[in-house]
Amino acid sequence: MLNGKRIIIAGAGPGTGSATAYLALVNGASVAVIARNEARLNALKAELSRYGRIEAIKGDLSTAKGAEEAVHKAYEALGGLDGLVTVLGGYVEGGISEVSEDDIFNMVRVNLAAHLLTVKAAVPLMKRGSIVMVTAIWGPYVNWPNHVAYVASKAALSRVAETLASELLDRGIRVNVVAPGGIRHDFKPGRDWRSTRRLGDSSAPPEDIANVIIWLLSDQSEWVNGAVIPVDGGFRLRVR
Ligand SMILES: NC(=O)c1ccc[n+]([C@@H]2O[C@H](COP(=O)([O-])OP(=O)(O)OC[C@H]3O[C@@H](n4cnc5c(N)ncnc54)[C@H](OP(=O)(O)O)[C@@H]3O)[C@@H](O)[C@H]2O)c1
Repeated sequence: MLNGKRIIIAGAGPGTGSATAYLALVNGASVAVIARNEARLNALKAELSRYGRIEAIKGDLSTAKGAEEAVHKAYEALGGLDGLVTVLGGYVEGGISEVSEDDIFNMVRVNLAAHLLTVKAAVPLMKRGSIVMVTAIWGPYVNWPNHVAYVASKAALSRVAETLASELLDRGIRVNVVAPGGIRHDFKPGRDWRSTRRLGDSSAPPEDIANVIIWLLSDQSEWVNGAVIPVDGGFRLRVR
């Protein structure tokens, strides 16, 4: 589905980022994964190298300088850029009485600003292509009391899809947002993940989220643009 495409996965950790890298590789893409933990990135590269070309780039995407440096390194390593996935994220609990100033700004930085800074760095390097940003169902689809900073940051990212997509229409770059429910961190390449969950479960194997991301990166979804897609197996229908 992604033959020949060059994809950056920004904020690749043990869950969705790793699963997206794996499914992109087996679908024919070359991949560059970016995160701060170099040892984990190198372990992921070693684990997935047999499926295709994967580059590991150490970088902190939470500042404009960090995002620009990491995205440029990834672009050079791949020799071009056809797709970007911003999957980094953070989490904090707390209602309005408990949440601190740092909590609020940290959530906005990692769940919103870092995504925008990464997209800002990547857009000038893309001739056309697809951008997929990952948020959560909490905020855009589901209320979550006592998580006010987290929910605010996730809700804000979901509202950016249409604005970015409209700005980039004439560049031939699509922008969509995926909103997962709970995600497990038990990714293993090549396993039968479908047998590990049922519709309506509160959390899913990361391959379920990655599968939708792969489709959004591919030309199969070429007429989907500016959308926010809940990817939760219907869990939100139990709780909202
Ligand atoms: N886990 C859940 O239950 C859940 C539920 C709903 C939505 N989400 C959201 O879905 C997305 C994927 O979640 P996941 O749990 O599957 O994540 P993941 O892909 O396993 O990991 C994301 C990675 O982002 C990296 N990151 C964080 N800050 C960064 C920064 N400043 N610069 C570069 N990389 C950074 C972290 O790696 P380093 O520490 O190595 O930098 C982290 O491991 C996130 O946006 C998350 O908030 C998660």
